Amino acid sequence: MKTLFSGIQPSGIPTIGNYIGALKQFVDIQDAYDCYFCIVDQHAITVPQDRLKLRKQIRQLAAIYLATGLNPEKVTLFIQSEVPAHAQAGWMLTTISSIGELERMTQFKDKSQKQSEGIPAGLLTYPPLMAADIVLYNTDIVPVGDDQKQHIELTRNLVDRFNSRYNDVLTKPEIKMPEVGGRVMSLQDPTKKMSKSDDNPKNFISLLDEPKVAAKKIKSAVTDSDGIIKFDKENKPGITNLLTIYSSLTGESIASLEDRYANEGYGKFKGDLAEVVENFLTDFQEKFNSFYESDKLDTILDEGRDKAHRASFKTLKKMEKAMGLGRKR
Ligand code: AQP
Repeated sequence: MKTLFSGIQPSGIPTIGNYIGALKQFVDIQDAYDCYFCIVDQHAITVPQDRLKLRKQIRQLAAIYLATGLNPEKVTLFIQSEVPAHAQAGWMLTTISSIGELERMTQFKDKSQKQSEGIPAGLLTYPPLMAADIVLYNTDIVPVGDDQKQHIELTRNLVDRFNSRYNDVLTKPEIKMPEVGGRVMSLQDPTKKMSKSDDNPKNFISLLDEPKVAAKKIKSAVTDSDGIIKFDKENKPGITNLLTIYSSLTGESIASLEDRYANEGYGKFKGDLAEVVENFLTDFQEKFNSFYESDKLDTILDEGRDKAHRASFKTLKKMEKAMGLGRKR
């Protein structure tokens, strides 16, 4: 069976964008792969975090993963900082990364601009840590949203570099992106990606938003004034974004939605989508609540940590040997 790895940062509560771009894909493919799902808390601290909030968000994210329908009997769910091989392999891959290639990452450019107290070095060295997360499990496939494409390409380059400099130790992963919803946009500025750490809560719908509040956010989403419900990223980014969310949550194709709403106004379209979102969140949060407070969640995370540790340690030792680390016997 091939291996799949994916991580989400507990840097906020996942949005409907994280759900559509990443989480939603996982459930459908969990039977076809040996799946590792990681709560990448070491990535989250590449920008300042409130420690109490961070710990809460880590547990919330674990419950969110399970609420999407992942089967803990099949998949390995774990917290990055509980498996030491990630930081160790991350350091090794940092040593073979160049500053120039890390500075070219668009996420580094975007996030570094938002830092008021100096740019944390971890923001620059985040991609080799992400590459380590992936290669430690001999990952074949990484399902991510559009914004992570550049990081996966860098991971592939680092694998080639490591394998050619040292030994053919690492597996080169392939990227997998959703057909619809690879980049869900902000509700108030549909030219900008929806992000869970956005300062303005009107820009995103969190998976734990009060369903009625989320419905209101949809109704007040920025659109345009021509009144036509049509998918057109360039000229109608707001409506295009809402069509994407609608299609992803219901499974109805964009073409069918365009047809169905051809003679309707934005009010009706947004009202219907608001109802879809409200129902989706009500159902989702019921599942979330049943995991969040349960001891079962801790058992799943403990077992996940142990399994991830065993698997990653093997690759870590191979990497260390290949690079000449440790002592000769
Ligand atoms: N707007 C989005 N549309 C579709 N997919 C998205 N993803 C993120 N935003 C969107 C996908 O969600 C997964 C988890 O992302 P992450 O936690 O690793 O961090 P990120 O990509 O930086 O996501 P955010 O929400 O923007 O987080 P912050 O605000 O902390 O930076 C990835 O697969 C990502 O592609």
